[in-house]
Amino acid sequence: MLGPVILAASRSDKMRRLVSAAPGTKQVVARFIAGEIVDDVVPIVQDLSNRGLEVTLDVVGEDITTVEQSYAARDAYLELIGRLKELGLGERAEMSVKLSMFGQSLKIEGGEPGGLSVEGGGGRREGGHELALSNVRPVVAAAAEIGTTVTLDAEDHTTLDSMFAIHEELRKDFPQTGCVIQAYLFRTEDDARRLAANGSRVRIVKGAYKEPAEVAIQDKPEIDKAYVRIMKILMEGEGYPMIGSHDPRLISIAQELARRAGRKLDAYEFQMLYGIRSEEQNRLAAEGHRMRVYTAYGTDWYGYFMRRLAEKPANLLFFVRSILTK
Ligand code: FDA
Repeated sequence: MLGPVILAASRSDKMRRLVSAAPGTKQVVARFIAGEIVDDVVPIVQDLSNRGLEVTLDVVGEDITTVEQSYAARDAYLELIGRLKELGLGERAEMSVKLSMFGQSLKIEGGEPGGLSVEGGGGRREGGHELALSNVRPVVAAAAEIGTTVTLDAEDHTTLDSMFAIHEELRKDFPQTGCVIQAYLFRTEDDARRLAANGSRVRIVKGAYKEPAEVAIQDKPEIDKAYVRIMKILMEGEGYPMIGSHDPRLISIAQELARRAGRKLDAYEFQMLYGIRSEEQNRLAAEGHRMRVYTAYGTDWYGYFMRRLAEKPANLLFFVRSILTK
């Protein structure tokens, strides 16, 4: 019941202001967000790496409103890649990006007087889709130069055709570019078949957005069943499956499906979020699994934080308690 309410609040500016200003918020946010700037996150990457864990880094932010913000997002990732290069961490840390932060959802009237001319895109481009592609391409190229890659996160269902088209375009030059698919969407088994056949790196997750019944399964056990069907497609396919879940049942089913598909431990990986089930992360790594921790940082943490609250009501309780005791 609470989940959908929190997810609705994650898109409300009024709630954003209230939550951001509440006493005690910072302390709870710190459980899920690794810091505000690159310098905060570097020691965390080093620590995770020393513990045998790999990382995917997310500079938090989404739903931007100006083209300048999309350039700032691109530059924040380029700065991050520069630091990883200096520190020699390129091979242990990949990046996760939300294309909405790169301009995908901006309504841009191209070709009109005062329309947008996107720099670095080889001439005039139109629309948020093109803007996002032209912003993310240099990030993917810079990641490849230091021996790592980028995964495109999956946002709400209205953005996915654009995300998959950008993924396909980027893979022409950078085949290691990954993308995310969400088990709760009816479309996802078809997407999984296509991506498994073309050898993509694919992260499968349950799905974290508030989606209508016309496009998404609403019943949790049914989402889990879909997740298993999709994992099977990915494990039996040509690509590289990335199992994004904290659910112990799904993790053990993934291990069994990988075994049946004849995949060695380096032919798939597990992924979990920073701050969630850390002991399980260590356990899987100690067993020889590739375990990657999705580590988010940055100042625009609101949407990411609210999705973490929605996933587990106990987090909300903890949050409310910490406000009341301040
Ligand atoms: P489930 O929600 O059933 O949780 C299983 C158990 O894990 C819980 O019982 C609890 O113990 C623990 N747990 C889960 N979430 C928790 C939380 N927030 N706080 C504390 N404990 C928690 N979604 C999306 O739509 N697009 C995306 O691109 C991504 N990307 C992504 C990357 C990675 C690496 C992960 C792990 C997840 C995502 N997600 C995502 C989020 C995903 O869709 C989903 O909402 C969460 O992973 C929670 O689902 P679980 O599979 O963990 O199962």
